[in-house]
Amino acid sequence: MSVAKPLPHDAAPLHVSGAARYVDDIPVPANCVHLAFGMAQIAAGRITALDLDPVRAAPGVIAVLQAGDLQRAADCSPSAHDEPLLSGHTINYLGQPVFLVIAESHLQARKAARLAQITYKERDAILTIDDALGADSRFEKGPIVWEKGDAGEAIDGAPHVVEGKMELGGQEHFYLEGQAALALPQEGGDMVVHSSTQHPTEIQHKVAEALGLPMHSVRVETRRMGGGFGGKESQGNALAISCALAAELTGCPAKMRYDRDDDMMITGKRHDFRIEYRAGFDDEGRLSGVEFVHLVRCGWAQDLSLPVADRAMLHSDNAYLLPHARIESHRLKTNTQSATAFRGFGGPQGMVGIERVMDHIAHALHLDPLDVRRRNFYGTGDGGAQSAPQSPAKSPAPRGVPDSTVDVTSRGAVGEVPPGPAVPAPRGAQTTPYGMAVEDFILHDMVEELARSSQYQARRAAVREWNAANPILKKGIAMTPVKFGISFTLTHLNQAGALVHVYQDGSIHMNHGGTEMGQGLFLKVAQVAADRFGVSVDKVRITATDTGKVPNTSATAASSGSDLNGMAVKAACDTIRDRMAQVLASRHQTDASAVRFEGGEVFVGAESYSFADVAKLAYESRVSLSATGFYRTPKLAWDRLKGDGRPFFYFAYGAAVTEVVIDTLTGENRILRTDILHDCGASLNPAIDRGQIEGGYVQGAGWLTTEELVWDSAGRLRTHAPSTYKIPACSDRPKVFNVALWDGHNKEDTIYRSKAVGEPPFMLGISALMALSDAVSACGERYPALDAPATAERVLAAVTRVQE
Ligand code: MTE
Ligand code: MOS
Repeated sequence: MSVAKPLPHDAAPLHVSGAARYVDDIPVPANCVHLAFGMAQIAAGRITALDLDPVRAAPGVIAVLQAGDLQRAADCSPSAHDEPLLSGHTINYLGQPVFLVIAESHLQARKAARLAQITYKERDAILTIDDALGADSRFEKGPIVWEKGDAGEAIDGAPHVVEGKMELGGQEHFYLEGQAALALPQEGGDMVVHSSTQHPTEIQHKVAEALGLPMHSVRVETRRMGGGFGGKESQGNALAISCALAAELTGCPAKMRYDRDDDMMITGKRHDFRIEYRAGFDDEGRLSGVEFVHLVRCGWAQDLSLPVADRAMLHSDNAYLLPHARIESHRLKTNTQSATAFRGFGGPQGMVGIERVMDHIAHALHLDPLDVRRRNFYGTGDGGAQSAPQSPAKSPAPRGVPDSTVDVTSRGAVGEVPPGPAVPAPRGAQTTPYGMAVEDFILHDMVEELARSSQYQARRAAVREWNAANPILKKGIAMTPVKFGISFTLTHLNQAGALVHVYQDGSIHMNHGGTEMGQGLFLKVAQVAADRFGVSVDKVRITATDTGKVPNTSATAASSGSDLNGMAVKAACDTIRDRMAQVLASRHQTDASAVRFEGGEVFVGAESYSFADVAKLAYESRVSLSATGFYRTPKLAWDRLKGDGRPFFYFAYGAAVTEVVIDTLTGENRILRTDILHDCGASLNPAIDRGQIEGGYVQGAGWLTTEELVWDSAGRLRTHAPSTYKIPACSDRPKVFNVALWDGHNKEDTIYRSKAVGEPPFMLGISALMALSDAVSACGERYPALDAPATAERVLAAVTRVQE
């Protein structure tokens, strides 16, 4: 069995030795030209005069292109055709590409791009959420509203009400490898493009469109990315299109890569949000109704903003049954970089909203926030341990959850703290605000187990003791859960293809539509292929993603890479394996079902062959050893305008406990310890999954604590380099970091019953923000109302606020 083994990342030795090849490492032919954009220096207005002569005269410059020089209008948008490659006269944000320099070297192109003389007529830029609301600047006519029951009435009739608002900053992806593309012109006008992209088919589509060619004339190859995190779903289009156009114009290969500062100035980031909320609840903190208003800053072009804002709405419940809910979402258009996909795709923002509500309720009632959270959880759906007692109205389980009550003792460290009092699950149907039944809820058991293993209760008591004794340094602790929906909400994207060859020496060549960005997708899928053929994983060659091998692929996104491509590869392998079995069965005058592939050998009756021998036999019997595979996710049905249906195949779960300390004189803060229990179903590779969990948590905590994007009043992003934008370093990871995988399997029939893991752990980082809120609340009576990122400045301001 290759599946379920904790094998190291297939490219790890290449990564650490510098031998892994990224787009910028591909040797280029001698006549390669290099590109750079000239960028707008105002946020909104018109160009009244543009003198590019100094650019053209600069050393090494071959050509300079403006929008009007292009034969066909080139557009970079993945959605609305509202993103011209070059601005034309109208400027929409500071950093927008205005012209394209083609030069003999990368440095010459960049230097020349700064020499343009541009005169602008500025107009008032719409930069903030308030600016956009004031100007009614938005992407849809009005807000999208989804409702369940009557939230207003439920809140008004509740014994207690809290309301508030919170600001949530955006986030720069900070993939270590910047955006890059290389176009190689072929005979007859065809184009081969190497691109650092999560979405090779989109690159193929946009390049074909810009060149006026059918898609079959463009082939896109992606071996790997040095991180994508959603930032390479659509943001690579501009570079690939530019390279293709320059290659068409000059007949030479063309390459473009953004310098880090340019990358940060030009490309979109996570959407920042303002969330307004009102919640009604009883004496024990049980919600009766919630209202959310999401104000979403989308930037200048639509890009993926609508589905991102949808996913935020879809995660406004997180793990909690909202008896009555109203969620209103405004997609605001501003003169800033066009915000784009980022790990979680809006889900994290939506989830922070309800976690903030839970925190606020607990503060108002002087309860342990964990108790409030558990009281509001969905029921288990199988009449499980904690949900039964006081929830007579709970609907019976639609279907049992097989292994949700798995043997907790096998995960160690049990028993120091008695489990907390059993908290009854909420009443009412098991449905989300968008009408989907939650049938696989396992958080009651997970949270109980994590409370035990992390010694939550004892440590919470210790934190309170510490805070009573220490006037300056205050500690805080919080546990937050994650329930994340798996599937693309644009239903047709939930499909994948694969192409597998077995060569006559028994070696296997595997290809699928997914892309590798460090998440270990290729290895997981190779493990599947190896398992189907009963060989070790080193017999399977992992090859670059190539639009010429597998067509019409979806972006590697929505965490669905292994779910989709694993199934497609399995189908392709099984087709070939069955043919090989048939060859052997005929030879032995038996049935193909009597043939077994195991341990690199093939068994039939008492005899065994090497896998290679059977491959050779099949070849000599003139049997095809090549097959495609295809998969489409079942059960999905979703109406986004109504906000109703089943957008997700299943949910992935997790929970984290974070303990922090703050310095109340400076606001400085630190994560002391983090304990995580995360659900990967039956993990395809526990080592890779652990890496995703650790990395996701740290990236999520970074978003909510240190990573602050600052635009000045002219719309210039002031934090455009690591000197001013603080991502977590190794030294910022929790000093004590205990990560465990939940021992279960997916209730739905996914690849080997595993679960997607790419994005869900990101939202475990919310526990860091809530722990900071807990620490601040030790400083005074008032609710901290901490905005994010909770930088030292914000923590200090909150400390002052609660003392008032
Ligand atoms: N892990 C690494 N190392 N690098 C990345 O760029 N991207 C994340 C996640 N984990 C990313 C990562 C995002 S945004 C997604 S959607 C998933 O990986 C995509 O891969 P998967 O579907 O194979 O999980
Ligand atoms: Mo991930 S944000 O879906 O690329």
